[in-house]
Amino acid sequence: MSFEIKIAPSILSADFARLGEQVVEATEAGAHYIHIDVMDGHFVPPITIGPVVVKAIRPLTKLPFDVHLMVEKPESQIEQFAEAGADIITVHAEVCPNLHQMVESIKRLNVRAGVSLNPATPLAIIEDVLANLDLVLVMTVNPGYAGQAFMEEVLDKIAHLRQILDDRGLKAELEVDGGITAQTAPKVVQSGAQVLVAGSAIFNRRESVGEAMARIRESIDKL
Ligand code: DX5
Ligand code: ZN
Repeated sequence: MSFEIKIAPSILSADFARLGEQVVEATEAGAHYIHIDVMDGHFVPPITIGPVVVKAIRPLTKLPFDVHLMVEKPESQIEQFAEAGADIITVHAEVCPNLHQMVESIKRLNVRAGVSLNPATPLAIIEDVLANLDLVLVMTVNPGYAGQAFMEEVLDKIAHLRQILDDRGLKAELEVDGGITAQTAPKVVQSGAQVLVAGSAIFNRRESVGEAMARIRESIDKL
C-alpha cells in the first residue's frame, strides 16, 4: 500500500448521553477523522445531528471533522456546518444537479470538499469533477442507518475509482462508509479505499473504542 489507511469513527453509533467522552476516546484510540452523519429526514428518513452539536464537540479534539451531509438541500447547510467547525464537508451527488458549483461553494468556506455516491449511483456522475475533489465517499450500504450489512457488490466500484484516481494522478481521498468491520475492512482496502468510516464496529457494548479500533487496524495491517 502506498498510502496510510485512515480510520474515521462515525459518532452516529456513539452513546449520545456521553458524546463528548466518546469523541475523546476515539481521538485517544488513534482515529484520523471524526465522521459526523447529518440526516435531515428527507434525503433519508432519520434526523440526526445539527451544527449545534458539531460546535459543542469541536473543542474536545483536534482531529478533522468529516461531515457527511445526507440532506436534500446541502446548499442551505454548508455554511452553518463550516462555522460550527467542519473540516471536510461531503455532499451527495444524487441531490446536486450542479456539482461543480456545490464543490466550489464548499471550498470557498475554506473547507475540504467531498462528494458521496449511494451504492446504486454510478461513478460517471462525478468523473468530471474528480479533479476538484478532496474526497470521494463511496457508500457501501444505502445511507440512513448504522449497523447495516456491507454490500459486496460495491467493491468493483471502489476498485474502478482507485484506478481512475491513480491513472489521472488525482489526490482525492477514497473513503468508504457502511458495514465496515474487521471482516470487511481488508476487502475495501484491497480494492483501494484509503479512509474507512466505521460506526457500530467502533462504538458498541462489546468492547472499548480502543479495542474496536485496534481490531480493525490489525485486520488491515497484516495485508
Ligand atoms: C449511514 C452512515 C454511516 C453509518 C455507518 O448512513 O452514513 O456513516 O454511521 O455505520 P456502520 O459502520 O455501523 O455501518
Ligand atoms: Zn456516514
